Amino acid sequence: MKTMVKAINIHKSFNGREVLAGVDLEVADGEVLCILGPSGGGKSTLLRCLNHLETVDDGVVWIDGSVIGYELRGETLRELPPRKVRQQQREIGMVFQHFNLFPHLTALQNVIEGPVTVRKESRAAATARGVELLEAVGLGDRGAAYPSQLSGGQKQRVAIARALAMQPKVMLFDEPTSALDPELVGEVLDVMRRLALAGTTMIVVTHEIAFARDVADRVAIMVDGSIREIGNPDDVLSNPQDPRVRSFLNRVLN
Ligand SMILES: Nc1ncnc2c1ncn2[C@@H]1O[C@H](COP(=O)(O)OP(=O)(O)OP(=O)(O)O)[C@@H](O)[C@H]1O
Ligand SMILES: [Mg+2]
Repeated sequence: MKTMVKAINIHKSFNGREVLAGVDLEVADGEVLCILGPSGGGKSTLLRCLNHLETVDDGVVWIDGSVIGYELRGETLRELPPRKVRQQQREIGMVFQHFNLFPHLTALQNVIEGPVTVRKESRAAATARGVELLEAVGLGDRGAAYPSQLSGGQKQRVAIARALAMQPKVMLFDEPTSALDPELVGEVLDVMRRLALAGTTMIVVTHEIAFARDVADRVAIMVDGSIREIGNPDDVLSNPQDPRVRSFLNRVLN
């Protein structure tokens, strides 16, 4: 099976405090990995290191075989110039807790903005694909609506369509449903479930244990900057070995 994401020995400190303590991770093409864990454990920081929104203090990230954020010069890694970093980031879809849609653009305009301005696709082609993507996330009839006219769940689905429009190699989700009213969570998880079934490579930081159990190929539990358990969802969620993982799961499952 082809490896899509590989991270080795990722270290990251903020103000002398270690937040990632040497994380190793490998995600196969088409795989869905859910990352769970207590607040402050480093989940968001890890995702941000994977797409070079944060620099790493040590370690290397590859996506589809390319080192992210750096180039190898002889034996040493040198940070890439911002333009090259942005080029790489285009291939990595990111969906955050807050939707970050452009408020002055309609749903459809939000979705086609990247393809037209960054990927230099023709407006006609981008629009045709944008309409399809909005349909795929259940918003075929809301393309003309502005973000202020959409519910939180709808906005998040537009944000997913917008990320997909860039044809990313992997989709990173950071608690995509945790800012939503409870009755809107399901519609976003349904879209993510469909993406997973369609073979999208996904790394999903979430508190939705049922989703992780159903949809993930593997679940990882991150505590204090390291992955304490990783494996198939049933093993990790039902029979964790690490005591910190056990106490975390006891808290969230009961
Ligand atoms: N830019 C930053 N500057 C300083 N400290 C930071 C920064 N970003 C994160 N941290 C710290 O790093 C630690 C890990 O944060 P991170 O956001 O990665 O945790 P998390 O697992 O995503 O938590 P949550 O479940 O609450 O989202 C926290 O103690 C946080 O305060
Ligand atoms: Mg977080």
